[in-house]
Amino acid sequence: MGVVERTVLPKAASPDWTIPQGFDLYSEAEHQTWTTLYERQAEILPGRACEAFLHGLEALDLHGHGIPDFQQLNEKLLELTGWGVVAVPGLVPDAVFFEHLANRRFPAANFIRGAGELDYLQEPDIFHDVFGHVPMLTDPVFADYMQAYGKGGLRALSLGSLANLARLYWYTVEFGLLETSEGLRIYGAGIVSSRTESIFALASDSPNRLGFDLERVMRTLYRIDDFQQVYFIISALQHLLDVTTGTDFGPLYHKISHMPDIPIAAIEPGDKVFTRGTQDYARSGGRVRQGAA
Ligand code: PHE
Ligand code: FE
Repeated sequence: MGVVERTVLPKAASPDWTIPQGFDLYSEAEHQTWTTLYERQAEILPGRACEAFLHGLEALDLHGHGIPDFQQLNEKLLELTGWGVVAVPGLVPDAVFFEHLANRRFPAANFIRGAGELDYLQEPDIFHDVFGHVPMLTDPVFADYMQAYGKGGLRALSLGSLANLARLYWYTVEFGLLETSEGLRIYGAGIVSSRTESIFALASDSPNRLGFDLERVMRTLYRIDDFQQVYFIISALQHLLDVTTGTDFGPLYHKISHMPDIPIAAIEPGDKVFTRGTQDYARSGGRVRQGAA
Protein backbone atom coordinates (compact mmCIF):
# COMPACT_ATOMS: atom_id res chain seq x y z
CA MET A 1 0.00 0.00 0.00
CA GLY A 2 1.57 3.20 -0.96
CA VAL A 3 1.30 6.79 -1.77
CA VAL A 4 2.50 6.39 -5.31
CA GLU A 5 1.77 3.09 -6.86
CA ARG A 6 2.47 1.41 -10.14
CA THR A 7 -0.67 0.45 -11.97
CA VAL A 8 0.87 -1.32 -14.93
CA LEU A 9 2.13 -4.83 -14.28
CA PRO A 10 5.82 -5.00 -15.20
CA LYS A 11 6.54 -7.56 -17.94
CA ALA A 12 8.71 -9.81 -15.78
CA ALA A 13 6.21 -9.99 -12.91
CA SER A 14 3.62 -12.67 -12.17
CA PRO A 15 -0.06 -11.69 -11.95
CA ASP A 16 0.44 -11.28 -8.20
CA TRP A 17 3.26 -8.85 -8.99
CA THR A 18 5.98 -11.04 -7.52
CA ILE A 19 9.35 -11.29 -9.24
CA PRO A 20 12.47 -13.29 -8.50
CA GLN A 21 14.60 -11.50 -5.92
CA GLY A 22 17.61 -11.80 -8.23
CA PHE A 23 19.93 -12.33 -5.29
CA ASP A 24 22.93 -13.17 -7.48
CA LEU A 25 22.58 -9.88 -9.33
CA TYR A 26 23.40 -7.56 -6.42
CA SER A 27 26.74 -5.80 -6.75
CA GLU A 28 29.32 -5.61 -3.99
CA ALA A 29 28.47 -1.93 -3.61
CA GLU A 30 24.79 -2.77 -3.07
CA HIS A 31 25.64 -5.34 -0.39
CA GLN A 32 27.87 -2.73 1.19
CA THR A 33 25.00 -0.23 1.28
CA TRP A 34 22.91 -2.74 3.24
CA THR A 35 25.77 -3.33 5.65
CA THR A 36 26.32 0.36 6.21
CA LEU A 37 22.64 0.97 6.87
CA TYR A 38 22.45 -2.10 9.10
CA GLU A 39 25.40 -1.03 11.22
CA ARG A 40 24.06 2.48 11.70
CA GLN A 41 20.74 1.12 12.97
CA ALA A 42 22.22 -1.72 15.02
CA GLU A 43 24.13 0.89 16.95
CA ILE A 44 21.17 3.05 17.91
CA LEU A 45 18.24 0.62 18.20
CA PRO A 46 19.02 -1.21 21.47
CA GLY A 47 17.06 0.69 24.10
CA ARG A 48 14.96 2.37 21.42
CA ALA A 49 13.33 -0.44 19.41
CA CYS A 50 10.95 -2.79 21.22
CA GLU A 51 11.98 -6.27 22.33
CA ALA A 52 9.95 -7.99 19.62
CA PHE A 53 11.83 -6.10 16.92
CA LEU A 54 15.29 -6.64 18.39
CA HIS A 55 14.51 -10.28 18.99
CA GLY A 56 13.31 -10.69 15.40
CA LEU A 57 16.47 -9.10 14.08
CA GLU A 58 18.49 -11.70 15.97
CA ALA A 59 16.26 -14.64 15.17
CA LEU A 60 16.38 -13.93 11.43
CA ASP A 61 20.08 -13.25 11.47
CA LEU A 62 19.51 -10.09 9.45
CA HIS A 63 23.21 -9.64 9.71
CA GLY A 64 25.43 -6.86 8.64
CA HIS A 65 26.96 -8.98 5.88
CA GLY A 66 25.01 -7.65 2.97
CA ILE A 67 21.52 -7.93 1.54
CA PRO A 68 19.70 -11.02 2.84
CA ASP A 69 18.74 -13.84 0.51
CA PHE A 70 14.96 -14.19 0.74
CA GLN A 71 15.18 -17.96 0.38
CA GLN A 72 17.29 -18.30 3.51
CA LEU A 73 15.31 -15.65 5.35
CA ASN A 74 12.06 -17.42 4.57
CA GLU A 75 13.22 -20.72 5.99
CA LYS A 76 13.52 -19.10 9.40
CA LEU A 77 10.51 -16.82 9.12
CA LEU A 78 8.22 -19.58 7.91
CA GLU A 79 9.21 -21.75 10.82
CA LEU A 80 8.66 -18.96 13.35
CA THR A 81 5.27 -17.58 12.32
CA GLY A 82 4.34 -19.00 8.92
CA TRP A 83 5.14 -15.73 7.16
CA GLY A 84 7.22 -15.39 4.02
CA VAL A 85 8.79 -12.51 2.11
CA VAL A 86 8.12 -12.20 -1.62
CA ALA A 87 10.01 -9.88 -3.96
CA VAL A 88 8.13 -7.19 -5.88
CA PRO A 89 9.40 -4.38 -8.11
CA GLY A 90 8.38 -1.71 -5.55
CA LEU A 91 4.98 -0.42 -4.52
CA VAL A 92 2.13 -2.56 -5.80
CA PRO A 93 -1.62 -1.90 -6.15
CA ASP A 94 -3.51 -1.91 -2.86
CA ALA A 95 -5.57 -5.01 -3.64
CA VAL A 96 -2.42 -6.97 -4.52
CA PHE A 97 -0.71 -5.82 -1.34
CA PHE A 98 -3.65 -6.80 0.87
CA GLU A 99 -4.04 -10.17 -0.84
CA HIS A 100 -0.41 -10.97 -0.01
CA LEU A 101 -0.76 -9.89 3.63
CA ALA A 102 -3.99 -11.84 4.01
CA ASN A 103 -1.97 -14.93 3.02
CA ARG A 104 0.98 -14.17 5.27
CA ARG A 105 3.26 -13.01 2.50
CA PHE A 106 5.07 -9.71 2.89
CA PRO A 107 5.87 -7.99 -0.42
CA ALA A 108 9.33 -6.44 -0.32
CA ALA A 109 11.10 -4.33 -2.92
CA ASN A 110 14.12 -6.15 -4.34
CA PHE A 111 16.18 -3.00 -5.00
CA ILE A 112 18.33 -0.98 -2.63
CA ARG A 113 18.84 2.78 -2.46
CA GLY A 114 22.00 4.26 -3.94
CA ALA A 115 25.06 4.77 -1.75
CA GLY A 116 24.66 8.54 -2.16
CA GLU A 117 21.12 8.60 -0.79
CA LEU A 118 21.34 6.69 2.47
CA ASP A 119 18.97 9.04 4.25
CA TYR A 120 16.58 9.99 1.54
CA LEU A 121 14.12 7.66 -0.08
CA GLN A 122 11.56 8.37 -2.73
CA GLU A 123 10.10 4.92 -2.52
CA PRO A 124 10.53 2.14 0.07
CA ASP A 125 13.50 -0.06 -0.81
CA ILE A 126 14.63 -3.47 0.42
CA PHE A 127 16.22 -1.99 3.53
CA HIS A 128 13.03 -0.32 4.63
CA ASP A 129 10.88 -3.30 3.68
CA VAL A 130 13.05 -6.07 5.10
CA PHE A 131 15.00 -4.49 7.94
CA GLY A 132 12.06 -2.28 8.91
CA HIS A 133 9.10 -4.62 8.57
CA VAL A 134 10.23 -8.23 8.69
CA PRO A 135 11.63 -8.51 12.25
CA MET A 136 8.19 -7.71 13.70
CA LEU A 137 6.71 -10.55 11.64
CA THR A 138 8.58 -12.99 13.90
CA ASP A 139 6.31 -11.92 16.75
CA PRO A 140 3.23 -14.17 16.80
CA VAL A 141 0.86 -11.40 17.83
CA PHE A 142 2.12 -8.86 15.34
CA ALA A 143 2.16 -11.58 12.67
CA ASP A 144 -1.56 -12.10 13.23
CA TYR A 145 -2.20 -8.37 13.20
CA MET A 146 -0.58 -7.98 9.78
CA GLN A 147 -2.60 -10.81 8.34
CA ALA A 148 -5.82 -9.42 9.82
CA TYR A 149 -4.91 -6.03 8.38
CA GLY A 150 -4.61 -7.59 4.92
CA LYS A 151 -8.08 -9.08 5.20
CA GLY A 152 -9.38 -5.78 6.57
CA GLY A 153 -7.76 -4.00 3.63
CA LEU A 154 -9.65 -6.07 1.10
CA ARG A 155 -12.85 -5.28 2.96
CA ALA A 156 -12.06 -1.56 3.21
CA LEU A 157 -11.41 -1.47 -0.54
CA SER A 158 -14.83 -2.94 -1.23
CA LEU A 159 -16.43 -0.44 1.17
CA GLY A 160 -14.58 2.57 -0.24
CA SER A 161 -12.98 3.30 3.14
CA LEU A 162 -9.35 2.68 2.41
CA ALA A 163 -8.27 6.23 3.28
CA ASN A 164 -9.37 5.63 6.88
CA LEU A 165 -7.82 2.18 7.16
CA ALA A 166 -4.56 3.40 5.62
CA ARG A 167 -4.16 5.76 8.59
CA LEU A 168 -4.27 2.80 10.93
CA TYR A 169 -1.38 1.21 9.01
CA TRP A 170 0.52 4.46 9.00
CA TYR A 171 0.21 5.12 12.73
CA THR A 172 0.86 1.52 13.79
CA VAL A 173 2.83 -0.59 11.31
CA GLU A 174 4.89 2.34 10.04
CA PHE A 175 5.13 4.85 12.90
CA GLY A 176 3.88 3.10 16.00
CA LEU A 177 5.33 3.45 19.49
CA LEU A 178 4.87 0.98 22.33
CA GLU A 179 4.63 1.71 26.04
CA THR A 180 6.81 -0.57 28.17
CA SER A 181 7.89 -0.65 31.79
CA GLU A 182 11.22 0.73 30.61
CA GLY A 183 9.73 3.60 28.69
CA LEU A 184 8.57 4.15 25.13
CA ARG A 185 9.91 1.86 22.43
CA ILE A 186 9.63 1.88 18.66
CA TYR A 187 7.88 -0.84 16.68
CA GLY A 188 7.01 1.10 13.49
CA ALA A 189 9.02 0.18 10.39
CA GLY A 190 9.19 3.73 9.08
CA ILE A 191 10.96 4.73 12.29
CA VAL A 192 13.30 1.77 12.85
CA SER A 193 14.58 1.92 9.28
CA SER A 194 15.44 5.63 9.58
CA ARG A 195 18.44 6.73 11.61
CA THR A 196 17.22 10.25 12.21
CA GLU A 197 13.59 9.43 12.96
CA SER A 198 14.64 6.66 15.38
CA ILE A 199 16.11 9.41 17.49
CA PHE A 200 13.50 12.09 16.78
CA ALA A 201 10.47 9.89 17.50
CA LEU A 202 11.52 9.22 21.09
CA ALA A 203 13.62 12.22 22.03
CA SER A 204 12.32 15.30 20.26
CA ASP A 205 10.15 17.85 22.09
CA SER A 206 8.40 18.68 18.86
CA PRO A 207 5.83 15.94 18.11
CA ASN A 208 2.73 15.07 20.09
CA ARG A 209 2.72 11.59 21.59
CA LEU A 210 -0.79 10.33 22.24
CA GLY A 211 -2.41 7.15 23.44
CA PHE A 212 -3.68 4.93 20.65
CA ASP A 213 -7.40 5.08 20.01
CA LEU A 214 -8.72 3.28 16.94
CA GLU A 215 -11.37 5.78 15.88
CA ARG A 216 -9.11 8.74 16.62
CA VAL A 217 -6.27 7.30 14.54
CA MET A 218 -8.52 6.53 11.59
CA ARG A 219 -9.61 10.17 11.53
CA THR A 220 -6.12 11.63 11.71
CA LEU A 221 -4.28 13.01 8.69
CA TYR A 222 -0.62 12.12 8.25
CA ARG A 223 2.38 13.40 6.42
CA ILE A 224 4.63 11.41 4.17
CA ASP A 225 7.32 13.95 3.46
CA ASP A 226 8.93 14.57 6.83
CA PHE A 227 9.10 13.41 10.45
CA GLN A 228 5.69 12.77 11.98
CA GLN A 229 4.03 15.49 14.04
CA VAL A 230 2.13 12.95 16.11
CA TYR A 231 2.92 9.41 17.24
CA PHE A 232 0.35 7.06 18.74
CA ILE A 233 1.34 4.80 21.60
CA ILE A 234 -0.09 1.33 22.12
CA SER A 235 0.03 -0.31 25.54
CA ALA A 236 0.75 -3.77 24.11
CA LEU A 237 0.86 -5.52 20.75
CA GLN A 238 -1.85 -7.83 22.05
CA HIS A 239 -4.08 -4.84 22.73
CA LEU A 240 -3.62 -3.62 19.17
CA LEU A 241 -4.57 -7.04 17.83
CA ASP A 242 -7.54 -7.41 20.16
CA VAL A 243 -9.05 -4.02 19.54
CA THR A 244 -8.70 -4.23 15.74
CA THR A 245 -9.88 -7.80 15.32
CA GLY A 246 -12.58 -7.32 17.94
CA THR A 247 -14.11 -4.32 16.19
CA ASP A 248 -16.36 -4.50 13.16
CA PHE A 249 -14.94 -1.70 11.02
CA GLY A 250 -18.08 -1.47 8.85
CA PRO A 251 -20.11 0.68 11.26
CA LEU A 252 -16.97 2.55 12.29
CA TYR A 253 -16.22 3.58 8.69
CA HIS A 254 -19.79 4.68 8.38
CA LYS A 255 -19.66 6.72 11.58
CA ILE A 256 -16.42 8.52 10.82
CA SER A 257 -17.45 9.27 7.25
CA HIS A 258 -19.73 11.87 8.84
CA MET A 259 -16.98 13.33 11.02
CA PRO A 260 -14.24 15.77 10.09
CA ASP A 261 -10.65 14.62 9.64
CA ILE A 262 -8.38 15.56 12.53
CA PRO A 263 -5.48 17.86 11.64
CA ILE A 264 -2.07 16.36 12.13
CA ALA A 265 -0.92 18.33 15.17
CA ALA A 266 -4.29 18.65 16.92
CA ILE A 267 -4.95 17.55 20.46
CA GLU A 268 -8.57 16.52 20.96
CA PRO A 269 -10.62 16.57 24.19
CA GLY A 270 -10.54 12.78 24.68
CA ASP A 271 -6.83 12.29 23.93
CA LYS A 272 -4.52 10.62 26.39
CA VAL A 273 -1.56 12.93 26.15
CA PHE A 274 1.87 11.45 26.84
CA THR A 275 3.71 14.46 25.45
CA ARG A 276 2.28 17.71 24.22
CA GLY A 277 4.69 18.65 21.44
CA THR A 278 6.05 22.11 20.78
CA GLN A 279 5.72 21.48 17.02
CA ASP A 280 8.86 23.59 16.68
CA TYR A 281 10.39 21.20 14.17
CA ALA A 282 7.45 21.39 11.80
CA ARG A 283 6.98 25.11 12.35
CA SER A 284 10.56 25.83 11.39
CA GLY A 285 9.99 24.10 8.08
CA GLY A 286 11.33 20.65 8.83
CA ARG A 287 13.30 19.15 6.02
CA VAL A 288 13.03 16.45 3.43
CA ARG A 289 11.99 13.13 4.89
CA GLN A 290 14.73 10.82 6.01
CA GLY A 291 13.09 7.58 5.14
CA ALA A 292 10.14 6.07 3.42
CA ALA A 293 7.34 3.92 4.61
N1 PHE B 1 -11.83 -5.98 12.18
C1 PHE B 1 -11.57 -5.27 10.94
C2 PHE B 1 -12.84 -5.17 10.07
O1 PHE B 1 -13.91 -5.46 10.53
C3 PHE B 1 -10.42 -5.89 10.14
C4 PHE B 1 -9.07 -5.48 10.64
C5 PHE B 1 -8.37 -6.24 11.56
C6 PHE B 1 -8.49 -4.33 10.15
C7 PHE B 1 -7.12 -5.86 11.99
C8 PHE B 1 -7.24 -3.95 10.57
C9 PHE B 1 -6.55 -4.72 11.48
O2 PHE B 1 -12.77 -4.75 8.92
FE1 FE C 1 6.68 0.35 4.94
